[in-house]
Amino acid sequence: MSDARPFTTLLSALPASVPFVAPEALERRRGELFELRLGANESTFGPSPRALAAMRNELERASLYGDPESFELRTALSVHLGLTREHLVIGSGIDDLLGLAVRAFLEPGSCAVTSLGAYPTFNYHVAGYGGRIESVPYRDDRNDLDALVDAARRHAARLLYLANPDNPTGSYHDAAAIAALLDALPEQTLLLLDEAYIEFAPPALPFDAEDPRVIRLRTFSKAYGMAGMRIGYAIAPRQTIAAFDKVRLHFGVNRVAQAGALSALADRAFLEGVLAEVAWGREEYTRLATALGLAALASATNFMAFDLGSPERARAVAEGLTARRVFVRVPGATPLNRLVRATVGTPSERRRFGHALEGVLKSSRV
Ligand SMILES: Cc1ncc(COP(=O)(O)O)c(C=O)c1O
Repeated sequence: MSDARPFTTLLSALPASVPFVAPEALERRRGELFELRLGANESTFGPSPRALAAMRNELERASLYGDPESFELRTALSVHLGLTREHLVIGSGIDDLLGLAVRAFLEPGSCAVTSLGAYPTFNYHVAGYGGRIESVPYRDDRNDLDALVDAARRHAARLLYLANPDNPTGSYHDAAAIAALLDALPEQTLLLLDEAYIEFAPPALPFDAEDPRVIRLRTFSKAYGMAGMRIGYAIAPRQTIAAFDKVRLHFGVNRVAQAGALSALADRAFLEGVLAEVAWGREEYTRLATALGLAALASATNFMAFDLGSPERARAVAEGLTARRVFVRVPGATPLNRLVRATVGTPSERRRFGHALEGVLKSSRV
C-alpha cells in the first residue's frame, strides 16, 4: 500500500500524544481489572436515581437525534444559575468546550498561558489548533495567580487557563481572588475558568455572564456522577455563545445525556448527599494521611493529593497500589510528581483504599 496522503502542516508537526492513559488501557496492559478505580476523579456515588431513570427511559428514543439546542437543559440551567439561555452552550463535557474556546479565540502561533502540570486537555487543544503554551510553575502547590497574569502580559497571551478548584492539587482560590485576577488581566487575554469541581468548593464568584473577560466551564461529570455521559456547559456572553454556534458540533450531545443532566439538576437532595459524603471523606483522608505519617493537600474537590515527599516514593507507592489493583494517579510535572492523587469514594472504598495504602507503605520497598 502507498503512504497516507499528506496531512496538514499543523498535524504533521504534532507529536503523537494522548492527554491521559485511561484505566482501561492500563487494565489491558496489565491483563487484570482494577478493584478500586480512584485515579480519574470520577464520582463513585454514581448518577442520581432520578437521572438514571430518566436516562433509561430516554434510551427508548435512541433512534432519534438529540435536540441540537439542548433547549430544555439550557432552560433549566438558566433558572438554576440565574442567567439566560443565550448565555449557555452545552457540549460533550468540558473537554469538548475547551476545544471550542481555543478554536474560537486562539490564532495559530499565538500564546496561551497555564500552570505547569495543570489539567492537560487544554494544552492538547492548544497544540491541535496551532497555538503556543507558556507554563507557570505552581507556588506552594497552588496556581500562582500573579505569575499567571504576569506571563499573560509578557507573552501577550490570548487565553489564560485556570482550573479552580484545581486538578491535580485540589487547591482553591476564593471568589475575591478570582475577581482580582479578572481585574488584573491584560486587555487581550480571556480567562478560561474551568469549574469542573465547583460544586465541592466554597461559593464561587457570582455570575456576570456578559463579562467579556471570562468563559466559565462546568460539567455533569463530577458531583453529578455522569462522566461517562459526556455532558457539560459553558457560560459566556451572548455574542460568544452565538459565535460558538457557528462551529460547534450541533448534534454532538446525545439525548440520553441531555435527559440525565436535566433530571440530575432537579435532584438537589442527591447532590447534597454526595457533597456531604465527599466533605466527610476528605476529612477521613486527612486523618488517614496523618496516621500514616504523610501530608495530604487541602482539597476543594472530590479527590485528595497525598504528599509522598519525592517523585521516586510517589511512583513506588502508586505501583504498589496498582499491584493491589487500586488505580490512582501521580501527576507528571515536577514538583507535583511527589503526589499521589486519589478519589474520595464511598465509605467502603475509602476503607479499602486506606488498608491498601497502609499495606504499601509498610512493605519494605517504600
Ligand atoms: C479540571 C478538569 N477539567 C475538566 C475535566 C473533564 O471534564 P469533562 O468530563 O466535563 O470533560 C476534568 C476531569 O478530570 C478536570 O479535572
